[in-house]
Amino acid sequence: MDKFAIEGGRPLEGVIQVSGAKNAALPVLAATLLTDQEVRLDRIPKVRDIRTMARLLKSLGADVASNSGGYAVRVTEVTSPEAPYELVKTMRASSLVLGPLVARCGEARVSLPGGCAIGARPINLHLAGLEKLGAEISQEHGYIRAHAPNGLAGAVIHFDRVTVTGTEDLMMAAALARGETIIENAAREPEVADLAALLGKMGAAIDGAGTSTIRIQGRSRLHGATHAIIPDRIEAGTFLIAGALTGNPLTIAGVDTRHLAALIDRMRQAGVDFSFPAEDRIEVRAGGRLRAVDLATREYPGFPTDMQAQFLAMMTQAEGESHITETIFENRFMHVSELLRMGADVVLEGNQATVRGKSRLSGAKVMASDLRASACLVIAALTARGETIIDRVYHIDRGYERIEEKLSNVGARIRRTK
Ligand code: EPU
Repeated sequence: MDKFAIEGGRPLEGVIQVSGAKNAALPVLAATLLTDQEVRLDRIPKVRDIRTMARLLKSLGADVASNSGGYAVRVTEVTSPEAPYELVKTMRASSLVLGPLVARCGEARVSLPGGCAIGARPINLHLAGLEKLGAEISQEHGYIRAHAPNGLAGAVIHFDRVTVTGTEDLMMAAALARGETIIENAAREPEVADLAALLGKMGAAIDGAGTSTIRIQGRSRLHGATHAIIPDRIEAGTFLIAGALTGNPLTIAGVDTRHLAALIDRMRQAGVDFSFPAEDRIEVRAGGRLRAVDLATREYPGFPTDMQAQFLAMMTQAEGESHITETIFENRFMHVSELLRMGADVVLEGNQATVRGKSRLSGAKVMASDLRASACLVIAALTARGETIIDRVYHIDRGYERIEEKLSNVGARIRRTK
């Protein structure tokens, strides 16, 4: 298993280029199942979850060609509408193929994802939505079967709770359903809007993506299209926090600043200064005193749960006491026990972490538990005295493209060891 060895305390200086968004690329790849024509996708990030999705698409019958900048996918025929446990267990986002498969084939079998390090993460809302569109749902041998031999029909779907991939799954299914579907209490994440942009290019009529009410006029066929994925706001945010702690200065390039508003706002409250040398660039530097600020994670446009762990790492370097509340997932504080080993002062109570700073972190052996927890540990290691060894970095490889190379290029001492 790969590890990272990070020598902390080095200033980071220069420009880091952000990749395409993993969480936009995954649904967009699933959307290629909706047509028998070729879909060309640019700025697909080279990360492990994307390779898993490509394997899943191939197992369903897709022809997937990758080139330097992206993928060309053609699903002339779905040969087997089944997402096997072996793939779903390694990536929960595999359930994104459920909606497209049942819409296109009238039939889908998708393994139920098992437990997850950050919470139970059920898919009941995806299933209830598909039932509303007329699919019969049953479960056997650990698999969900969705059956709609006469096709899906538009309906009003009201989500009791906001779900990002649930909104995406249903939007894709509705694009091939008869008549109009209205999704209420939809997720407003930029990744949802990006998927809608692709579906629009494929011939679907979708209104309101990016707001909490989405209207979809179903089509009997969709066609091929070309699309470039939006920049990864979570990768950008991770580097912004690294820059706020070590930047001399550090420029994050290729970003969409509109998607980072909640993070930038909280970082400013904490005393971080930004400058914007170009529309798609943000420059940040370390040096000023950081103040403790409180936050609670929320659905977009609120503060993203995917940035909670990294922000918590920053708060260990701020003066005072901050309260960080996680409202999206039940168990997303696995990074805390590892930060304690590095000398942080954090007390966990229920879904709230109280962080007292400023702590002098020191390098230690730590274990990555999930994608964003790993990013938190990388940030902590960059600021710590001495060497940190992060074990199980396959978690970080799921969602960050060549992170050690990007950080080395701006002056970090980070090595991958086998
Ligand atoms: N939920 C249900 N039932 C459902 C669906 C969700 O109870 O049917 C609950 C979840 O258990 C959770 C909450 O609703 O407590 C929100 O979950 P959501 O469905 O929005 O999460 P997701 O779609 O599974 C996506 C991202 C996550 C990100 C969350 C929240 C992708 C592929 N994944 O997950 O990204 O944390 O939205 O913003 O888009 C990551 O990249 O590290 C990551 C975990």
